[in-house]
Amino acid sequence: MCVACDIDPAKAEGFAGSLVEMINQGALTIMVSMGHQLGLFDAMVGLAPSTSAEIAEKTGLHERYVREWLNAMAVGKIVEVDHSSTYFHLPQEHAMYLSRHFPGDNIALFSQYIPVLANVEQKVLHCFKNGGGVPYEEHGRFHEVMAEDSGQTILGALFDFILPLIPGLKEKLGSGINVLDIGCGSGKAMVMMAEYFPNSNFLGVDLCEEPLRNGRRAVEQKGLKNVRFQQGDLTMYKPEGRFDLITAFDAIHDQARPDLVLKTIFNCLEDNGVFLMQDIDASEKVYNNLGHPFGRLLYSISTLHCTTVSLAQGGMGLGTMWGTERANLMLKDAGFTQIQENRLDHDPMNCYFVVQK
Ligand SMILES: C[S@@+](CC[C@H](N)C(=O)[O-])C[C@H]1O[C@@H](n2cnc3c(N)ncnc32)[C@H](O)[C@@H]1O
Repeated sequence: MCVACDIDPAKAEGFAGSLVEMINQGALTIMVSMGHQLGLFDAMVGLAPSTSAEIAEKTGLHERYVREWLNAMAVGKIVEVDHSSTYFHLPQEHAMYLSRHFPGDNIALFSQYIPVLANVEQKVLHCFKNGGGVPYEEHGRFHEVMAEDSGQTILGALFDFILPLIPGLKEKLGSGINVLDIGCGSGKAMVMMAEYFPNSNFLGVDLCEEPLRNGRRAVEQKGLKNVRFQQGDLTMYKPEGRFDLITAFDAIHDQARPDLVLKTIFNCLEDNGVFLMQDIDASEKVYNNLGHPFGRLLYSISTLHCTTVSLAQGGMGLGTMWGTERANLMLKDAGFTQIQENRLDHDPMNCYFVVQK
């Protein structure tokens, strides 16, 4: 068989070009992550065209590294450079998506997921060959980046868009109800609500001590008495008491046993209570996700994080892209009868399920 005879040269060349572009952009993503962590973008916001020495001085970083990073930013068309290759400038139209000065719009923070994922590459390779999973402790900065992510995605929209999805909820929180946050991580949303609604009581449960420590620190700093964090495996969790509101922010699909967790939520939710589940907005069928704007990122996160942390606990390994179809089925299996899907403009990656018995 003549393999080459069947080849469409333009198609082959186009594909090779897109692979090269992919590798270029992948490398650049690590540079963006570093710029975010080092505060380089923040320092360049509103700054006149400056030399690498001036930017290094402003940030307290070593000039040689800053110069190389600026060169990467320049060829990546993130930063502009003059003809003499001396002066670097971050245009305002770019700065607004790269800096902490523009909370809510900072896309640079998400670039941190790429090095976090790359950090476990070898361990996940091992699992491809031997099975099993890579547990949370091996995922480096994951909890830190996750907290920064949900701090941006949830907090800015919580009072104006997320809580209003449930009519009358803000009033109930004001009068005083019991709230449980499932897989709370550092519980930023819970802490924000606890501060705003002092008559309500909040309990956050998570498997991992590291984010819980950060959550407890925030509660202590704010002097809040109405929030508790509890370490526990939700797979066999038996909560004390019942709850009027249960939340799960991006926390069901990567559980070991999402089926059991959803059943527990059903059992400890008051009859007129509400379960608010933020989870990935995608289809369980990959074909339906071919045009998904975040599909490449989300299947990669799934392989290198969500699926493997679940398998590491002997779990189902549902994966990030379990799909709204599967979510609906599993919610129904847990006993819920009223399931409403909501999409919010600020968060194109997620669906907000409002679920009742
Ligand atoms: C994607 S993170 C979301 C964290 C948090 N809700 C947020 O928005 O920042 C998922 C969380 O689920 C927790 N988790 C995973 N498996 C768990 C289990 N079996 N029991 C309790 N928590 C678990 C993880 O530790 C992690 O903090």
